[in-house]
Amino acid sequence: MSLDQDIAHIRKEFPILHQKVRGASLVYLDNAATTQKPQAVIASISSYYEQYNANVHRGAHYLANLATDAMEKSRDAIQHFIGATHREEIIFTQGTTDGINLVAHAWAMTHLKIGDEILVALSEHHANIVPWQQVCKKTGAILKVIPLNPDGTWVADWKTYINAQTKLVSVGWVSNATGVVHPIHEMVEQAHNAGAKILVDAAQAVSHFPLQVAQLNCDWLVFSGHKLFGPTGIGVLFGKLDLLNAMEVYRTGGEMIKKVSFEGTTFQEAPLKFEAGTPHIQGIIGLGEAIRWFSNVGWEWIHKIEMQQIEWMKSVTAEVKALHWIGESERKTALYSFWSPQFHHADLGELLDQQGVAIRTGHHCTQPLWDAWNMSGTARASFALYNNEEDTVQLQKSLIKSIQLLIG
Ligand SMILES: Cc1ncc(COP(=O)(O)O)c(C=O)c1O
Repeated sequence: MSLDQDIAHIRKEFPILHQKVRGASLVYLDNAATTQKPQAVIASISSYYEQYNANVHRGAHYLANLATDAMEKSRDAIQHFIGATHREEIIFTQGTTDGINLVAHAWAMTHLKIGDEILVALSEHHANIVPWQQVCKKTGAILKVIPLNPDGTWVADWKTYINAQTKLVSVGWVSNATGVVHPIHEMVEQAHNAGAKILVDAAQAVSHFPLQVAQLNCDWLVFSGHKLFGPTGIGVLFGKLDLLNAMEVYRTGGEMIKKVSFEGTTFQEAPLKFEAGTPHIQGIIGLGEAIRWFSNVGWEWIHKIEMQQIEWMKSVTAEVKALHWIGESERKTALYSFWSPQFHHADLGELLDQQGVAIRTGHHCTQPLWDAWNMSGTARASFALYNNEEDTVQLQKSLIKSIQLLIG
């Protein structure tokens, strides 16, 4: 099958893509914010509610067993997908933000002290900054920041930001503002050499290349289901098993408890230890289905499609010279941030929307980055495996038309 035929085949599985928006065919290029869902994922959620809705783990009846099995099969699918050694290393969270907060509360708040350092990079999403600021406020630890080159890559001497005081490194694998892929393998090695733990924010990496956490050897890794063709409100925290079991509990109540008495309460081991209350069952089932669907496409095709999209976008960035394109580094995903000093990115986004082209405008939850670069934000077009050549053609046409309207 050719690449074009393959993308056409993939597109058929996404009902939402086949609609007109403001009279034009929808061109959905806001995949870094959230991806669309294939029919298989939508059907898996409906069939849970239509056929086996029940609470999990605690029911001694047929439907409860079906729901529990489906939920735990999703855990197995995720373990396999991200290359974790143990299924108990997969914790269900509400998403990337929730996973980072979990580690901040259940590990950093109790393990860090005055003068310890937490290292992040300038391009981090707010979700990977603010929890650490809260930890610093409580513990007296200090937040250190790796600066960026103008192309969005970490500065050449980034290793010098790690020292004997560094106790935690928490970095994004791929920037949601620039699409730049950061050298995470090297960072894991450097962090461990210094005796620090490392958390990887894989929100923008998970749908672009295999994570292989055991091989990567990171201590924690987080991502959101909704950026991987799964439902919103569900995400994953991977943690090394011995570390998870040594961490404090975070939220309490429900299945995370072993025994409660007024003298004291004992808790389960991971993963249940971190999954308080009734879980997001349909979200977990939908995410498992998303991973099965995505794995069926296969990394080889996913990579080929993305390389082709990057190729198509080379002509767009070359043709639309009125825009500044950020993050043109060697190692990047098909995510494009652009701006012009002649008009506001929000106005450009609005004009694109009127032509059926959905992109994101604003600070993309990376305000410190734009402050450092004296900017207020950008317009951002981000691709997923269903975006075809027609989408890039429409993007280019709409950009040219909008810019003409804005600057005459
Ligand atoms: C790099 C990065 N980290 C964290 C997040 C937060 O993800 P969520 O809102 O799903 O928790 C995002 C979302 O855009 C992101 O791009």
